[in-house]
Amino acid sequence: MNIDTWLTKAVKDLSKAGIDSAQLDAHLLLAATLYQSREYILSHGEQELSDTELAQADKWLKRRLNREPIAYILGHKEFYGRDFIVSPSVLIPRPESEAIIEILKELKPETIIDIGTGSGCLAISAKLELPNCSVIATDISEDALQIARQNASSLNIEVTFAVSDLLSGIKNITSDEPVTIVANLPYVDESWDVSPETKFEPSMALFADNDGLHLIKKLVLQASKKMRDGDHLVLEADKRQHGQLSQYAEEHGFTLEKIDGLIVLYTLRA
Ligand SMILES: C[S@@+](CC[C@H](N)C(=O)[O-])C[C@H]1O[C@@H](n2cnc3c(N)ncnc32)[C@H](O)[C@@H]1O
Repeated sequence: MNIDTWLTKAVKDLSKAGIDSAQLDAHLLLAATLYQSREYILSHGEQELSDTELAQADKWLKRRLNREPIAYILGHKEFYGRDFIVSPSVLIPRPESEAIIEILKELKPETIIDIGTGSGCLAISAKLELPNCSVIATDISEDALQIARQNASSLNIEVTFAVSDLLSGIKNITSDEPVTIVANLPYVDESWDVSPETKFEPSMALFADNDGLHLIKKLVLQASKKMRDGDHLVLEADKRQHGQLSQYAEEHGFTLEKIDGLIVLYTLRA
């Protein structure tokens, strides 16, 4: 079978399975099988696939047809222009979260604490974009932290990683410089419609009680006690949650500064 024939069949099967990105996914799976770029496979349609290549491409296609996210099949995902290792221990980084990096670049904080770091995409991108700031990243999952450490090492960057339930493992925020806490915590309510792909992601990275706001509100409360006047809190939440979240944050001393897509920026006025 040649490249064109495999692609035609794969796109047809993926479309039939209800996958919107059928064409892109077929290209990515075959390109990864052949260790080539998408451009290569598109310009070498007549090339015959070996039995080994065919078996590998078909195996990956079967996983994708079962709605496994392509990032888990290929083991990596791009975030803020860089490649991050991902595994089913971590949430697949979402493009919406990149706005957090834009906000950090505007704030230029000396110290950043990333709560619920997952793959480490926020902490590591922040350190790469703002090399002079010190970055601490925590997660309740040791398995997630292992992936984050691998990403820091492959991107050649120093971030301090620690296991912690929200801010409980961070004794005191000792820096004299202003601190910015960022958190993309789980905020999906169990009742919401989610894509079939999310069943492959860790539920502890996605779901939270109390309309999805349980963990975020808990963090706001902890942060209001540990942070100082002028410190910033950058949170990701669904747009439907922004009103309730901001009301809670304001009750705990935070002022809403800005909303960018799913991202909200608060400043503590102690
Ligand atoms: C939505 S994922 C975000 C991962 C990453 N920051 C990103 O933006 O792609 C939420 C992360 O929070 C972690 N988490 C869940 N509960 C936590 C808790 N109580 N304390 C710290 N981290 C927690 C999960 O393990 C998961 O890695």
